[in-house]
Amino acid sequence: MSKHGAVVIFFGSQWNVLVGCPEGMAQLFDREAAVLQKSGNHRKLPHAVISALTGGNIISETGKKWRAYARVIRPALKDRIDAVGLDVACQRLLGRLKLQQGVLAVTSIVQQYAMEAVTLCVFGKDLKFLDQPPRIHAVHALVKRHIFHPLFLSVPVLDNYPRLFPDRVEARNLISQLEHELLAALPSAEAKQALAGGAVDGASSPSSSNILFDLDEALLKGTFSSREYIDNLKILFIAGHENVQQALCSLLMVMARDLALQDAIRKDALSHRGDDPSPLLHAVIYETLRLYPPIPQLINRRVAEPCVLSLPSQGGAQLHVPLQPGTYVGWTAFGVHRGRWNTQWQSDPDVFRPSRWGNTVEDIDALARRARSRGEFVSFHGGLRTCPGQAFALRSLHLSLTAILGSFRLTLASNDGTQLTPGGLMAPRNLQLRFEPLAD
Ligand code: HEM
Repeated sequence: MSKHGAVVIFFGSQWNVLVGCPEGMAQLFDREAAVLQKSGNHRKLPHAVISALTGGNIISETGKKWRAYARVIRPALKDRIDAVGLDVACQRLLGRLKLQQGVLAVTSIVQQYAMEAVTLCVFGKDLKFLDQPPRIHAVHALVKRHIFHPLFLSVPVLDNYPRLFPDRVEARNLISQLEHELLAALPSAEAKQALAGGAVDGASSPSSSNILFDLDEALLKGTFSSREYIDNLKILFIAGHENVQQALCSLLMVMARDLALQDAIRKDALSHRGDDPSPLLHAVIYETLRLYPPIPQLINRRVAEPCVLSLPSQGGAQLHVPLQPGTYVGWTAFGVHRGRWNTQWQSDPDVFRPSRWGNTVEDIDALARRARSRGEFVSFHGGLRTCPGQAFALRSLHLSLTAILGSFRLTLASNDGTQLTPGGLMAPRNLQLRFEPLAD
């Protein structure tokens, strides 16, 4: 990886090319639509249990199908997020921390916050994850435990033998339960009726104005089939909370390691409120996302026609790698951000140095945009398929951290460090923090 910026790895029962340098990422962005097309688990491993969870959705599809999903989902995610809901979620998080204080295992609380934020702000539904978690919470935890089993992720063909591995039957049942719980909690009455096979003549419109409204309308007008509706609903719930959860846990770990940084952010945040966020916190968030990208690696592109991947060769000539149709190609943000490539972070890629991002929110955003388009900062991916939830995620991180740091001093009560979970996400393991209330 450090020599050519790519490696070949065995994953999901096959060999894959994993790209980990800015030049390779830029080619991936450029050719995403026609040549290096998205091809999620449902196409790569159609019989695997993980494919039953993800299905065909806005993240995993390509071409016409992706365009149909993107037309409904992307504009709503960018423009129709309920900011008031985010304040409510933050206040509930704070209330919960004040109630419990002392040493806390934060992963589960942060997860409940992230689920609260996405259901309130994106779907416009108050499911009270932080007060009395609905069944979705427990079922989702069980699904993850079954799905992200390293053996079945590496050798998914084993999923075809349910008699030998009854656990896989249980995993499929849990996925159905998760779908059932989400469908019971989220869609409008009209959409529920349509999903249950009831009449949809004269399709009346659902009554709210958020992404659920657009999804329900797409179902009622027949733009989405029931299966497409369910798969997209699931992925929005999952992508909408998991990545924010991992990012917030990594940020809390970074803060808890450094009391001086906490004090500096508290001071800066006091003079920047609401739509004028703290530049220091903004830089800390980007630097944490660079060092600990919540999605450190993904292998979900398939070569659609013969092409050549041109890779750098440290100190030598470029390497041109011919790729045949059917080859799977993935990317690693960890390789891009931590390697000694010709990037902004070249001199000290492993060092946590927020100041490298700039001193104003405008400068920091401009650098993030530049670095993303050059394939140097890829935590939110880039190009055509850039994450549309980025603005919401950043706002959620700003508000929750400002609220927490305004009320507590944080210190580490465990030191397990960051690890890749078997499912490939990155976050601190068993993070335990001491929440010490600040004097008024
Ligand atoms: C810190 C938080 C987040 C990170 C690091 C993140 C990262 C990413 C990445 C890397 C991708 C590209 C995946 C790929 O290449 O296959 C992506 C796509 C996507 N993300 Fe996010 N994400 C975050 C938050 C969110 C949130 C909060 C939502 C929704 C509420 C969201 C919705 C999506 C969707 C719908 C796509 C697919 C876009 C498309 O292909 O058109 N993300 N995200």
